[in-house]
Amino acid sequence: MRICILGATGLVGRELLDLAPRAWPGAELALFASRDQALDHDGRRYEVEAACALEAEQAAPGELAFVALDDAHSARYVPRLLALGYRVIDKSNTYRLDPAVPLVVAGVNDAAVASARLVANPNCTTIPLALALAPLHRRFGVEEVTVSTYQAISGAGLAPLDEFLQASSAGYAAGDRLGAAFDPAAYAGNTVPHSGGTDDSGLSAEERKLIFESRKILGAAALPIAAQCARVPVAVGHYEHVWLTLGAGALGLTAAEIEAILRGAAFVRLSAGASGAGLSARACVEHRDEALVGRLRADPRDGGGRRWCLTVAADNLRMGAATNAVRVASRWFPSWDPALRGPGASI
Ligand SMILES: NC(=O)c1ccc[n+]([C@@H]2O[C@H](COP(=O)([O-])OP(=O)(O)OC[C@H]3O[C@@H](n4cnc5c(N)ncnc54)[C@H](OP(=O)(O)O)[C@@H]3O)[C@@H](O)[C@H]2O)c1
Repeated sequence: MRICILGATGLVGRELLDLAPRAWPGAELALFASRDQALDHDGRRYEVEAACALEAEQAAPGELAFVALDDAHSARYVPRLLALGYRVIDKSNTYRLDPAVPLVVAGVNDAAVASARLVANPNCTTIPLALALAPLHRRFGVEEVTVSTYQAISGAGLAPLDEFLQASSAGYAAGDRLGAAFDPAAYAGNTVPHSGGTDDSGLSAEERKLIFESRKILGAAALPIAAQCARVPVAVGHYEHVWLTLGAGALGLTAAEIEAILRGAAFVRLSAGASGAGLSARACVEHRDEALVGRLRADPRDGGGRRWCLTVAADNLRMGAATNAVRVASRWFPSWDPALRGPGASI
């Protein structure tokens, strides 16, 4: 089995480099990035080829490709990989809302993979949100959702993360309690709106992803969902506050009953009780392949059991990106490691 990873030198690509040999030991890995280079990762040196080599007439066919590139480069290489016979999981935004391409969260809508040869991997905030909402949606119907996100800097890629780490260490070293050394427009020591690509309606690109992708994955095209996204000065681990209204069947529901449902949900680690014990952005990095869900409590604006608040957090590089991609691909090529197998995929 030949597996290509495009964007292997990036943050998500490196996670795939760790996971692919666990899922498919013995597979040949072919790594691609912007240029020919050597990649030192986890004590090993890998040869990486320029992705444009895939456009050569003699480029090798293969079975599975993970594409962890920006939108423009995904649009360039995904059709070529399909033509070479690969089944492709694309991690960019390019194909997510294409009606012809399944958008899949393992544990939520795995059946959508069916006979597809290209699957889109959702955004890093959408995946954990969908894992938390899906079991409640199946049982009661989710009628309305409001989400506020607190997103880590690594969501922006390797170069912004490194810049953030450097600026943080210099800024905090200054020892000034007001943080005057920090740039008010930059990520270090700061919380900033995630407002890139804001459209005429006022939604940013990140907010649009969360809204439209959640509707597609949950099969709820008209679901009223509002989102407000921010970046916080954390390296890894996206955090989301969620307010939701359940259907009439939830009247009289208790927190214990919702927790029992969430406890049985695929790839969810429930932190029981309203205090959020064990739920933090750092905790995501200890439980990299699960969505952490907790702080469940009744929304005080409703006493009927239909309106609830909860918190969802996940490692944006793993659960929010690479792990989901590998679990989805395990529908096609069963994973050797059960932790990287989606429901319905058996060896
Ligand atoms: N970071 C996250 O939390 C996250 C989560 C979910 C989805 N995603 C999505 O996953 C994709 C990758 O994100 P990332 O955070 O891993 O980005 P990243 O760390 O910035 O890595 C980008 C990768 O793209 C490669 N690249 C750049 N220019 C190229 C070119 N001209 N031809 C071929 N390869 C090129 C880079 O190679 P060089 O090293 O050679 O420049 C690098 O391997 C993006 O679409 C992103 O939106 C990211």
